[in-house]
Amino acid sequence: MPFVKSERLRKLPPYLFAEIDKRKKAAIAAGRDVINLGVGDPDRPTPRPIIESLQKNVENPAFHQYALDQGAPELRRAIAAFCRERYGLELDPDSEILPLIGSKEGIAHLPLAVLNPGDISLVPDPCYPVYRSSSMFAGADVYAMTLEPSLGFHPDLDAIPADVYARARLMFLNYPNNPTGSAADLAFFRRVNELAEAHDLVIAQDAAYNEMYFDEPPPSLLQVPGAKDHAIEFHSLSKTFNMTGWRVGFAIGGASLIAALGQVKANVDSGIFTAIQFAGKTALDHYRELAPPIRALYRERRDAFVGAMRKLGWEVPSPSATFYVWIPCPKGYTSTELCTRLLEEASVVTTPGVGFGRTADGYIRAALTVETPRLLEAVERIGKLTL
Ligand SMILES: Cc1ncc(COP(=O)(O)O)c(C=O)c1O
Repeated sequence: MPFVKSERLRKLPPYLFAEIDKRKKAAIAAGRDVINLGVGDPDRPTPRPIIESLQKNVENPAFHQYALDQGAPELRRAIAAFCRERYGLELDPDSEILPLIGSKEGIAHLPLAVLNPGDISLVPDPCYPVYRSSSMFAGADVYAMTLEPSLGFHPDLDAIPADVYARARLMFLNYPNNPTGSAADLAFFRRVNELAEAHDLVIAQDAAYNEMYFDEPPPSLLQVPGAKDHAIEFHSLSKTFNMTGWRVGFAIGGASLIAALGQVKANVDSGIFTAIQFAGKTALDHYRELAPPIRALYRERRDAFVGAMRKLGWEVPSPSATFYVWIPCPKGYTSTELCTRLLEEASVVTTPGVGFGRTADGYIRAALTVETPRLLEAVERIGKLTL
């Protein structure tokens, strides 16, 4: 009998980025000069002090053994100091902080700690696809909360039916937002916290892009008084420090939520290579010097790209955070049709909005992860198309 995948895998939509990668590889294999604005992966290298920290620590034989489940105390203390300085939070490094093998790992495991089969998981639409798939893996029903353009790509929390709230146990949020580039303020988080209290919800706020901002520094959900009772927030070093390949992030939140996520992890992984945890500590210790130049680079790229697209007549909003530009499709195009034309006729890779959610078929996403001259070349090529 041929092998048949589990039902849980068969239920999943195809993983969006794998599909795009396939198409991009085919174009490259055909010898075309492809400009890839498809994947949110920083193109610049990790800053020197972080690399040097790893080089030094990799020599330490004590780090060659299994890492501690709850992460190195040195990293947890560095995270606590960072959160104190950046957000004014007082977190106990022993119970309210959990290092992760990248924030994706924690996001993917959280539903196993929170949801029972048949519970509802409230998931933004569009969104980073892992919220949906991890909720499904836990046997939950997914309720899509449309991110409304008219509400600054926030969900209309009052439009969620009472019977949905009654069955919901978990709400994912992601601000600054991938893919829309929108942000949230403390007033929004206060409202979310009230709902969490009223409906006994766990709020999982994905703050992977919190340090990639161009206006006001985005807040932490945990700045809302009482939020620790319901909230867990995911942070990532990946984009802040050009460290996507290193796999280091962290969760902060109330001790019982952090312990529950830690319990899942203790059963599936054995922590982050300790030398990488120390490199993560170096990154956070030097946040003040290392993060601003990276932010400045993306600001320059954003202004160049958005400015050039607007000159062509496209109505492109300028994101206040993240390195994503969320572009409304010209009339008559679905996101897949537009992305296909950009790839086939301009060799520019973008991501169709529909891959992030059913409500986003009128948008494509461009990631500012190539140098400014290439961004401008992409715009020039797009300008030559008649759309
Ligand atoms: C919204 C969002 N959350 C989380 C992640 C995962 O980041 P990492 O696992 O590298 O920390 C990504 C990566 O692209 C993302 O876009």
